[in-house]
Formats: sequence, structure tokens, C-alpha cells
Amino acid sequence: MMINRTAACLFTAATITFAAGVEAQTASPSAGLDDAAVQSTRAMANELLTQLGQKLKASLSAEGPESAVSVCKEASPAIAEALSAKHGAQMTRVGTRVRNPALGTPNAWQKEALAQFEMRLSQAESPTNMEYWSVVDTGNGKRELHYAKAIPVQAMCVTCHGTASDIPATLAEKIRAEYPQDQATGYSVGKLRGAAVISRPLP
Ligand code: HEC
Repeated sequence: MMINRTAACLFTAATITFAAGVEAQTASPSAGLDDAAVQSTRAMANELLTQLGQKLKASLSAEGPESAVSVCKEASPAIAEALSAKHGAQMTRVGTRVRNPALGTPNAWQKEALAQFEMRLSQAESPTNMEYWSVVDTGNGKRELHYAKAIPVQAMCVTCHGTASDIPATLAEKIRAEYPQDQATGYSVGKLRGAAVISRPLP
């Protein structure tokens, strides 16, 4: 059974079926999810995004975008791993279109979260603080919290994720060389780039 709640927007329709064919049911506030668990998970997502953002900014200004590509490649997974270990959770980020297929491809639940976010964006909801979560029953009375926070495209992202006119030619070459399967270009500011995603056991 899945119980879904969205913070910024609680759907009144009883059931919403997403493109992926996953059914999500809305939950009443009394559905039993511990608010403290959501709050601490939200803080973990913010910690991940803050650390990634700081690292990216620092390396962009110190070394320029071409070196920052390597930083992104090595530092981003390392940051996510360190925080996962620190919090006893699985923390990572996924894309709506993906540069690193090994790390950035969403699973079924994460696809559902991204589809949710795209729908809410299309209804003019602000992407800032847009989040989505479910409590998933994993059997034997065990439960997991699955949480996603939207990652909107900001101005500094288009240097590496924008259209051909945003990405300098030598940088585009470097990205192509490192990520021959890159799909993560063509984004503009305000679009959904992906999500910070966390799954963690609930007591
Ligand atoms: C210097 C170039 C560069 C900039 C600037 C940049 N990225 Fe990336 N981005 C990358 C690279 C390289 C990867 C692949 C990292 C890896 O190997 O895991 C990536 C991967 C990602 C992913 C993981 C999903 C995927 O496609 O693999 C997300 C989400 C993401 N970037 C969001 C952003 C956001 C949001 C910004 C702006 C705040 C941004 N990026 C700015 C280079 C960049």
C-alpha cells in the first residue's frame, strides 16, 4: 500500500493515475505518517542540495566550467554517498533527462515523483520547495519513507544543461567525450531538471 502526500498541494481527487501507470492515493493528514520523519528527511534533502550547490559554485568560479565537469562527476556522487552513510538512508539525485545513466536514472517511484512535479509545474505551482513523498509498506510490518524534492533549473545550470547557444563549444565537446549518452541538455531556467531523492526505513 502506498500513501502519498504533497506538502504544497494536497490533491482532493481520491486517486490520481500517472503516465507510468503507478497509482497514487492521497492521504488524509491522519494517515499515520510521522511529521517529524518528513521534516528530518526534508532537512536531509536540503543538506544534499546545499552541499552540491556550494561545491558547484566554488569550482565554477575557481576553475571554470570545463574543470567543473570533472568535479560534478566525482564530487556529486561522493557527497551523496557520504550523506547517505551519515543519515542511514539512500540519498541521490535523478534527472528528467539524464547525463549519467548509471547514477541519474529514476526508478518507478522516482519517475512518478517527477511526473507529479511536471504536472504541478504545468499548473503554475512554483518549483521552489516542491516535494512529494510516500510511505511504502515493504512487508513484515516494515515501512519506508520515499521522498523527492524538485530540482529546478537555475541560471548557472544552463552552462552545462542548456541549449547549444548556452554551452561553449569546447565545454560541449568535453561533456560529449565524458558522457557519450548525454540527454541532459536543452533545459531553460525554471524547467524541472530532476529531483533529490531519499529513501529511508521508518521505525
Ligand atoms: C560544469 C557543468 C555543470 C553545471 C554548471 C551543472 N551541471 Fe548538472 N551535471 C553535470 C555533470 C557532468 C553531471 C553528471 C554527473 C555524474 O557523472 O553523476 C550532471 C548531473 C546532474 C544531475 C543528475 C542527473 C543526471 O543527469 O545524471 C542533476 C539532477 C543535475 N546535474 C542538476 C544540475 C543543476 C540543478 C545545476 C545548476 C544548479 C547543474 N546541474 C549544473 C554538469 C554540470
